[in-house]
Amino acid sequence: MKVGLFGAGGMGNVHARQYGKMQDVQLLVHDRDPERLAEFSARWGATSTPNPEDLYSQCEMIDVCLPTDLHLPYALKAVSNGSAVFVEKPMARTLEECDQLIEAADKAKVPLSVGQVLRFFPEYELGHKLIESGAVGKPATARTRRGGAAPRGREDWFMRHERSGGVLLDLAIHDFDWLRWTLGEVDRVYARSVAALVGSGPDYALTTLSFDSGALGHVEATWMDPSGFRTKFEVAGSAGLIEWDSRREAAIRTHMDGANFLETPLSPTDDPYYRELRSFIDAANAGTAPPVSPQDARMAVSIALAALESAKTGREVRPVRT
Ligand SMILES: NC(=O)c1ccc[n+]([C@@H]2O[C@H](COP(=O)([O-])OP(=O)(O)OC[C@H]3O[C@@H](n4cnc5c(N)ncnc54)[C@H](O)[C@@H]3O)[C@@H](O)[C@H]2O)c1
Repeated sequence: MKVGLFGAGGMGNVHARQYGKMQDVQLLVHDRDPERLAEFSARWGATSTPNPEDLYSQCEMIDVCLPTDLHLPYALKAVSNGSAVFVEKPMARTLEECDQLIEAADKAKVPLSVGQVLRFFPEYELGHKLIESGAVGKPATARTRRGGAAPRGREDWFMRHERSGGVLLDLAIHDFDWLRWTLGEVDRVYARSVAALVGSGPDYALTTLSFDSGALGHVEATWMDPSGFRTKFEVAGSAGLIEWDSRREAAIRTHMDGANFLETPLSPTDDPYYRELRSFIDAANAGTAPPVSPQDARMAVSIALAALESAKTGREVRPVRT
């Protein structure tokens, strides 16, 4: 399969590393920054082009790793061209954009999915399976935490919330998706955030979720933690409690000047980003539904935008369902 990758930034590099492990994938990449594009092709041995149209005309699959506010136009064009489309999370900047993209993909009958990658992290996948199989009984409460230092991105686009959606749409969305996948539909959310009203800069947000099941969730997301990226979850139910903390459980941690990294002894094909992309390609080739449905990705956006609205208005908000 020839894959056209838009964006040679942070996530473009993460995806290219995974495609490099796939014998059946050829990569063609475009970025509007020529220097970045040249560096990227040298690093990954990928073909690059300064012309975005080349990707649409030459590739069977398009992978969109661009700033969030650009997801819709690039994904829509790919869909209208008949390509399979994989978009980094969040699916799009607004719910209307998500609906527009889903409708276009349905009409064109092309595979569409979004990088809700938590579902492919071994710990989150196992946690989900254990909870679903009754390991904690009936889930009653869930607490998650995710964050590190503020991401900047090209031209500081993450810090402009009208582009990124701030920490709630950009970061907490991972936990919103995992919690909905694991505990079911979310009825209401209430959120507070340091910067939602300002609309720019690093942010920290707390969200309370009420699920249809009666369970309560508490999601902490931060771009204000200089101590390194960290994730945690804890789900308690009628029969017990299950927990994960990336800092406690990591097998190996390397400390370097100004940064530290968690290393994993897992095989390269256990990498969550490999698994999300490989499973999408396999589903597209087989003509089966991708593991993360467009509706799931849309609902994750819906919960995040409800939290953002709540943080701005101080009121409880119901996520919009389909
Ligand atoms: N799944 C995850 O864990 C995860 C982590 C980080 C970011 N993301 C998501 O991935 C997406 C990309 O984020 P990133 O961290 O790679 O950002 P980035 O700023 O590092 O990279 C974006 C790239 O897009 C290029 N670009 C911008 N506008 C362009 C245009 N019009 N045409 C061509 N190229 C253009 C920039 O030059 C840059 O190289 C975002 O939606 C973000 O939310 C996902």
